[in-house]
Amino acid sequence: MLGISKLALSVQPSATLAAGAKARQLRAQGVKVFDFSLGEPDFPTPEHICQAAIAAMKSGQTHYTIAHGTVELRTAISRWYKKVYNLDCTPDQIIVSNGAKHSIHNALLALVGPGDEVIIPTPFWVSYSDLVSMTGATPVLIPCGMEADFKVSAAQIKKAITPKTKLLLINSPSNPTGAVYTHAELEAIADLVLEANIGVISDEIYEQLVYGDAKATCFATLREGLKAKTITISGVSKTYAMTGWRIGWAIAPEAVVKAMANIQSQETSNPCSVSQAAAIAALDGPQECVGVMRKEFESRRDFVIKKLQGIPGIKCKVPPGAFYAFFDVSSYFGKSFAGKTVTDSASFCLLALEQAHVNLVQGSAFGAEGYARLSYATSKEVLEAGLDKLQDWLKTAV
Ligand SMILES: Cc1ncc(COP(=O)(O)O)c(C=O)c1O
Repeated sequence: MLGISKLALSVQPSATLAAGAKARQLRAQGVKVFDFSLGEPDFPTPEHICQAAIAAMKSGQTHYTIAHGTVELRTAISRWYKKVYNLDCTPDQIIVSNGAKHSIHNALLALVGPGDEVIIPTPFWVSYSDLVSMTGATPVLIPCGMEADFKVSAAQIKKAITPKTKLLLINSPSNPTGAVYTHAELEAIADLVLEANIGVISDEIYEQLVYGDAKATCFATLREGLKAKTITISGVSKTYAMTGWRIGWAIAPEAVVKAMANIQSQETSNPCSVSQAAAIAALDGPQECVGVMRKEFESRRDFVIKKLQGIPGIKCKVPPGAFYAFFDVSSYFGKSFAGKTVTDSASFCLLALEQAHVNLVQGSAFGAEGYARLSYATSKEVLEAGLDKLQDWLKTAV
């Protein structure tokens, strides 16, 4: 019998991927499941990006590249940040990884370890806390409720800072809440970061998915000197419907990029060469496809929120970004459905899946009990039918 390491035993499987697997299991038994658990655009990758990948394959770009990404892709990323945010970064300040998740992990491995603390506003994206724990550092969670639009204030962060604090991990637009920090809110956090002399990992992967008046901010641009303290994370997964291509990146001071690149060169070598070529086409090519997807997401969001707000017992605010609704289901705690009692967000979501065949993710997976997350990255027809089922099922509560 092989013994499993302490590290492996301490890691939980990703809750969102686990929820998707559960739905697949039911589907295999012939059940029609309304799956609102997954965090990926349902659109196909735009054609011109696929064509660029085919061209790359045919022209022989099928070998190892520089471990932290081709110069061509890192140059395209640097051009993109200059154009969109007026952020100056050289290709040496950029590392391309196997998805943004990999960049976050590399950044944490490069910057923190046992004895260090990383501040994470909560609800947080499922992987943050585990990725921090895997380095031996301690996640320090700051709860942020619906009344605060799920956003942390500079004052709350200040209170959580100790001599052990190394990093703040911030995510705007947010998964799971769809919260988007205003420029002014982030400026206050930027001032605190500079004053307290801590680093920031700013996960901006949903930056292009903001609706109405909401605007995404590139945190590193907010103040003079902030670039030296910030690891900016993003990638092509959400913006260009490219989750399976596995291309994400980090922009950081050169010494940090070097440390991350060393780690990456030992653990995975380069991200897929063909995907890197496709990512160049995504960044340099026509951007209309992004606008089309954004418009559709916004219309789905409006539809879903109106519907959720019409269900008795559910509390839900309008999320300005990403493609998630994060709503309060705690009024159903203590209620029974077909003889089974809801005690927390996990049992609520399990019963919703088993009895209504609607797949949501429990708030506790994001560090926030009392809530459920619905991803609206699926067609309006499916959303309408699934939400009708959820509403009918909730009526059966006793
Ligand atoms: C907040 C956040 N950061 C990072 C990622 C990871 O993105 P990637 O697919 O590029 O690894 C996700 C994916 O769900 C996410 O929601």
